[in-house]
Amino acid sequence: MNQNELKQQVAKKAVEYVLNNVAKDQIIGVGTGSTADLFIDELAKVKSHIKGTIASSERTKARLESHGIAVFDVNDVVSVPVYVDGADEIDPEGNMIKGGGAAHTREKICASIADEFVCIADASKEVAILGAFPLPIEVVPLSREAVARQMRELGGNPIWRMNADGSPLITDNACHILDVHGLHITEPLALEIQLTIIPGVLTVGIFAQNAADVALIAAADGVNVVN
Ligand code: 5RP
Repeated sequence: MNQNELKQQVAKKAVEYVLNNVAKDQIIGVGTGSTADLFIDELAKVKSHIKGTIASSERTKARLESHGIAVFDVNDVVSVPVYVDGADEIDPEGNMIKGGGAAHTREKICASIADEFVCIADASKEVAILGAFPLPIEVVPLSREAVARQMRELGGNPIWRMNADGSPLITDNACHILDVHGLHITEPLALEIQLTIIPGVLTVGIFAQNAADVALIAAADGVNVVN
């Protein structure tokens, strides 16, 4: 089974999870990325079960709306029973690195109002220690070099993320992304807090404060549910 087939499998399982664990006519949170895209396509088949969604990016909002699924403004929603999203890495405690799709700021906001974070991933995303995947940090453009210097002092190698055409990637929040290579994240929550207070940092791609409560992990022998 290739990676896309595994993502497809976990997307289906996530919809099953929503049907079994979320009462009818609720608003649910939807993440961003290729796995989340497949989840959205599967969710569309049972869209009458939910009242609607909150979206973690403009990309996700557009895909949800293309299926006729209502998208509510996060400002108008107090809480959601579940937030379903992928990850770039997930450790045995459910801590994650996210932001490979440059959407981690809105992802973290959606996760913060969710009763439960359901991570959907293929087994290649499982790691013992976070950090082999470069850590995305969304920064206010003016602060980019100052933040990069601080990352170097911590032993990381920050790379300013560009689009394929060589232009700087601009996020949904009009900010830039630094991808910090070479970190070995043994204390995810402490590092998340430490980096979050650096002036100019909008959001760090460590999800420890908002770690996964449930992980649906697709492998060749099926989808494992990890609580
Ligand atoms: C986007 C994310 C994604 O969840 C993460 O990059 C995983 O993406 P994919 O499902 O395409 O592997 O954090 O910002």
